[in-house]
Amino acid sequence: MPCTFLRSLIVAAGTCASLAWAGEDNIRLKEGPGREIVETRCVSCHSLDYIEMNSPILDRKGWEASVGKMVRIMGARIDEAEVQAIVDYLTTQYGK
Ligand code: HEC
Repeated sequence: MPCTFLRSLIVAAGTCASLAWAGEDNIRLKEGPGREIVETRCVSCHSLDYIEMNSPILDRKGWEASVGKMVRIMGARIDEAEVQAIVDYLTTQYGK
C-alpha cells in the first residue's frame, strides 16, 4: 500500500495525506482471519500505523520477535493463543 506507507514520509502531500490521514485511530487493517484480535490488542498503546510501517521489513520471524517484544518488554497483555493468531495474521497480510 504505497499511499499509506508514503504518508509517514510525506507529511503534507495533497491527496495522499488527505485520503489516508483521517486520524491514526481510523486505520483499518486488511480483511483476514485474526484481524479483530490484532485491532483490539495492538491499539491500546500505539497506532496500527506501526504495523503498516513495518510491513515491508518483517517476515514471520520478524513479526514473532516484534509481537514477543510487545508482550515481554512492553507489557502487552496477550495470551499465547492470541500471539499465534496475531503472528499468523501479520505474516499473511503484512509479511515481507
Ligand atoms: C503494552 C503496550 C503495547 C502494546 C499492547 C503493543 N505495543 Fe507495539 N509498541 C509499544 C511501544 C512502547 C513501542 C515503542 C514505541 C516507540 O519506540 O515509539 C512499540 C513499538 C511497536 C512497533 C515498532 C517497532 C518496534 O519494535 O519498536 C511495532 C511494529 C509494534 N509495536 C507492533 C505491535 C503489535 C503488532 C502489537 C499487537 C500484538 C503491539 N505492538 C502492541 C507498546 C505496545
